[in-house]
Amino acid sequence: MGQTLKAVRGTRDLLPPETALWNRIEAAARRVFARYNFGEIRTPIFEDTGLFARGVGEETDIVSKEMFTWEDGERFDRQALIDAWRRAHGRESFEEEEIHSPREGLTALACSYDELHITEIVMFSTRADGSVLKALADAVTKAQESPRQFTRYEKTIRGRLVIPSPVPGDSEAAAEGGILVEKLQGTFHKSSQSLTLRPENTAGVVRAYIEHKLGETGQLQKLYYIGPQFRRERPQKGRYRQFWQIGAEVIGPPSAGSESPLRDAEVLEMLATLLDEMGITGWTLELNSVGSAADRARYNDTLRAALEPVVGRMCVDCQRRAVTNPLRVLDCKVPEDQPIIATLPTIAGSLGEDSIAHFAGVTSALDAAGVPYTRNPRLVRGLDYYTRTAFEFTHGGLGAQNAILGGGRYDGLSEAIGGPKAPGIGFAMGLDRLVLTLQAAESNQNAKPADRVDAYIAPLGESLNAAALKLARELRRGGLSVELGDGSFRLKKSFEAADKAARKIVILGEDELSSGILTVKDFATGAQTKVPRVELAEFLKN
Ligand code: HAM
Repeated sequence: MGQTLKAVRGTRDLLPPETALWNRIEAAARRVFARYNFGEIRTPIFEDTGLFARGVGEETDIVSKEMFTWEDGERFDRQALIDAWRRAHGRESFEEEEIHSPREGLTALACSYDELHITEIVMFSTRADGSVLKALADAVTKAQESPRQFTRYEKTIRGRLVIPSPVPGDSEAAAEGGILVEKLQGTFHKSSQSLTLRPENTAGVVRAYIEHKLGETGQLQKLYYIGPQFRRERPQKGRYRQFWQIGAEVIGPPSAGSESPLRDAEVLEMLATLLDEMGITGWTLELNSVGSAADRARYNDTLRAALEPVVGRMCVDCQRRAVTNPLRVLDCKVPEDQPIIATLPTIAGSLGEDSIAHFAGVTSALDAAGVPYTRNPRLVRGLDYYTRTAFEFTHGGLGAQNAILGGGRYDGLSEAIGGPKAPGIGFAMGLDRLVLTLQAAESNQNAKPADRVDAYIAPLGESLNAAALKLARELRRGGLSVELGDGSFRLKKSFEAADKAARKIVILGEDELSSGILTVKDFATGAQTKVPRVELAEFLKN
């Protein structure tokens, strides 16, 4: 027996009944998003690696060590091999003619060398494998049978297969089964593309905003998404390598009001509503301003100066960050570095007037709307694109991974990935963590009984299976949820199965079928009732 395969570490299967909870959360999110006039966007699960390197930032933990990245498109470049072969032999030495490819994906040239009295059918491939050699041999045989197609004179017709070889000096033509195999030095690959499974969705949304010129509408774009994200983090409770996010972005040209602090406050107010609707209580909103790009540059200088005397005692990552991007020192998780980090200046002292005024606009609107928050001047988020407002909602019940959602403003992200000026603000919530929070809450208030279907139909004997399917179809089309039993079950087994799955059982025997009067038992009350078939749907609904 083969080794049993399991879901990869950090990934997991979500099964019923838990998925019902996931669906409830997603449905609540879609409901609230619609009320705030957001539309859904679905972007691809993988993107060009450069999008995240430039968008999220090379120095962030996410980009520097947590991405699932691979090279794609290392495809064989046949034309490059043909061109190199032509160059190697000199065009003048033969007359050449492209012939109909004898097999899909193979190009053949008919080349006549007058002085040698030879015509060659030349093919180009990655390897001299059996199927290619056979295709070439077939083409040669065919040419020998009708030589006039290729040559005006009496000439020998033979085959030559040209393949690449990465080994220098390995360019000799060698004969193999009557066919010359010539190795041409080089790899002849089309340039490849580096791809990455998305570690987050904001960069993808902004890429789509640019690609589809959504800014040209002159309107604010309000987009939400629900989908998996991928980070190669060390798995633990609440932290997975494939996890789900529900997120939203508000983005547009400045003329559409995309920079207004009211947008920030509205997004935060929506989040408070969303968490309430999902039944999540006891959250804390932590709020900070991480300033404009200019403020950030000033803060980085301040940090660099503050780090100079102490960085020698910090971890190697911090020593590198102190030079490349000092702000990221604040992300350091090494316990020994924490006392030093606690003494570093906060960004509050580096904020310019505009940033201070913008932040005041956000907080006064939140105060007016009655959304509670805590200011945390040490909150810097793990992604480089943030400017001005940055926030996190945390929940006490989650332990170490206590952030249920995070977000903020990213006024320069569009330009960083080659787009027009398009300030924006958004957030993403970890669906896995929301579920954990809700499960903890539910187990505190006596777990609810699992959802049961409206009815279980029990055919008494296999001859009644077809009639039972017909009855189930009628009821399901009438909007009822129905579980269908099996006539091979004894009545006792049917009752046991029905009691687990449904609120009521409908017995379908020969008598019931002919009389049109069905026997229904209600598991909650124990009552057994005779119900005419025409009234059955109505009876089961109540
Ligand atoms: P983030 O803080 O990296 O922000 O992730 C947002 C949320 O995703 C976290 O608060 C957490 O709940 C969840 N999350 C992150 N990593 C994991 C993981 N490994 N396992 C389980 N849950 C996780 C962003 O992704 C930004 N794109 C948010 C944003 C949108 N900012 C502006 N717009």
